[in-house]
Amino acid sequence: MSERIFNFSAGPAVLPESVIKSAQRDIWNVADSGIGVMEHSHRGKVFDRILKEAEANCRELAGIPDTHHVLFLQGGASQQFAMVPMNFLPKDGTADYLVSGVWSEKAVKEAKALGKVHEASSSKDRNHCYIPTNVSWSSSPSYAHFTSNNTIYGTQWRQDPTPPAGVPLICDASSDIFSRPIDVRKYGMIYAGAQKNLGPAGAVLVIVRKDMVDAAASDLPTIFQYRTHAKEPSVFNTPPSFAIYVVGEVFKWIQAGGGLKAMEGKNQEKAALLYDYLDQSDFFRGTADADSRSLMNVCFRAPSEELEAAFIAEATKRGMSGLKGHRSVGGMRASIYNAMPRAGVEALVAFMKEFERANRAVHA
Ligand SMILES: Cc1ncc(COP(=O)(O)O)c(C=O)c1O
Repeated sequence: MSERIFNFSAGPAVLPESVIKSAQRDIWNVADSGIGVMEHSHRGKVFDRILKEAEANCRELAGIPDTHHVLFLQGGASQQFAMVPMNFLPKDGTADYLVSGVWSEKAVKEAKALGKVHEASSSKDRNHCYIPTNVSWSSSPSYAHFTSNNTIYGTQWRQDPTPPAGVPLICDASSDIFSRPIDVRKYGMIYAGAQKNLGPAGAVLVIVRKDMVDAAASDLPTIFQYRTHAKEPSVFNTPPSFAIYVVGEVFKWIQAGGGLKAMEGKNQEKAALLYDYLDQSDFFRGTADADSRSLMNVCFRAPSEELEAAFIAEATKRGMSGLKGHRSVGGMRASIYNAMPRAGVEALVAFMKEFERANRAVHA
């Protein structure tokens, strides 16, 4: 197959076309150095410039103040599930977790291995089809952790939870980072695996308050301390240099498109195409509560599992891939991250209409 198709995968996911094209060029020879970007030493001038530029663009894009470090780490978001409590949950402390899906549950599991956890809210009673905004905080949590977008269930916090004064808010933003403006000052830490909205798998963006890093546990193996990575910014050991390069290109692409506010507008429009159609259809139905719907992952069902299997198979034939829902929800999931072009969503909605028309009789 020589043509590209529409990739609705939940992650690794679609990348901006212009970024892939720059990467193709720079894999061969980056910055006229005669060496490809993957072949440069992480201690050399060329990579140093790539890293510094990525950090500077990240700061500018999201208005990240000097109070916070910007780090590119490894180990996926899952490693952050463990590093957060290792660094910030003292032995006699309690961490509050807002449980809005499987990824929050995994974060809880890691924290429980290290200290005390209070589940301050949960949407488990209805298989996480809504955002659990009804929060009851513990008396003095060491931090409050939440997942801003729940990739599997297609739910997203519209407004961030507000922990009691002085309690650092920590956010797993893996599946909606930089999809909308963000006020970094409100957070103790934000982290995100790159492979959905930022670039390829392999890098994790960590934005963390400097004073928290200074006060974090120091009786940990070196590599698991944030201070290690802050001291030698992102190059304590060999970093995922190619992934960081691509993330840097994605930052430039977002900037060129008008920044986070413009990105939010485009994401709202794309998601509205799908949700407006779902709302008037009596064939397909969205699975997330209307007030909790994600702009990034749109989950929906057809009237039967047979029809769902037929829908996914036919969509694949028409150049739309990655639409199978996660097994814990079933049905379909369209991941429409920043880099999904509007044309992809339009093609999907057009196909849904056609499929509904053709199969309404089967369903009736
Ligand atoms: C919200 C969220 N958090 C964490 C993860 C885990 O990320 P990783 O595979 O990078 O550890 C995912 C992966 O899909 C996710 O969607």
